[in-house]
Amino acid sequence: MGVFSRSLSSTIYTFLLYCDGVRKCFNLTMKIFLDTADITTIKNLVSTGLIDGITTNPTLIRKSGENPEDVYSAIADLGVTDISMEVYGDALQMYDDAIRLSDKYGKVATIKLPMTQDGLQVCRQLSKELIRTNVTLIFTIPQAILAAKAGATYVSPFVGRLDDQQVAGLEVVRGISGLYSMKGVRTQILAASIRTVQRAVRSFYNGADIVTMPPNVFTKMYDHILTDKGLEIFDADIAAIESKT
Ligand code: E4P
Repeated sequence: MGVFSRSLSSTIYTFLLYCDGVRKCFNLTMKIFLDTADITTIKNLVSTGLIDGITTNPTLIRKSGENPEDVYSAIADLGVTDISMEVYGDALQMYDDAIRLSDKYGKVATIKLPMTQDGLQVCRQLSKELIRTNVTLIFTIPQAILAAKAGATYVSPFVGRLDDQQVAGLEVVRGISGLYSMKGVRTQILAASIRTVQRAVRSFYNGADIVTMPPNVFTKMYDHILTDKGLEIFDADIAAIESKT
């Protein structure tokens, strides 16, 4: 029995190392999601190959002027494999909706649930059914503890909205991350309500596994005045070389 359990643990350990290697190899340790329901923008930015998923919420869907499921279908048609779809109502309504969305969109659907007693109850049930969940509107560590206990795949601390209340959103991300690491929790931290590149970067530094950001924050991540200046100089030098040949 001792030998068996030792060899089983060694197999599990090797498997975990392999998974970690695969995650690192494909840079899956810093996932970037876009926080938008604008199909034209999603189409443009997904073509970079750098977008790992999309988060939506009722406000973003309303802005798009479309109905939620038309938006989800259009995003899925672009090849996005992880779309957060928010459900509403009491526990029964949320559960029924979650099952319907999960049947319709399969593995692409991440069911986004509010941080409420009903939301946690549904989260627990969906996690037993191996359906991906995102518990949203997280503002404190106790809320993140409950979401993890309910088996959430992702928890979404709202960095920007905490900052608005003079509470350091990044500290909450760091606190959740420290606790989850200490306790070996597998729930991933999805930093949300991101308004600047600096907050996106610092969210990763503070332990976020995923950062969901508005498209303008994503595009600002690669913009830099010195890059533009450097390119101008190189372009001028290439033109000079070519004019001589
Ligand atoms: C993402 O899941 C959230 O709904 C979103 O990031 C909220 O951002 P906001 O605070 O800018 O509305």
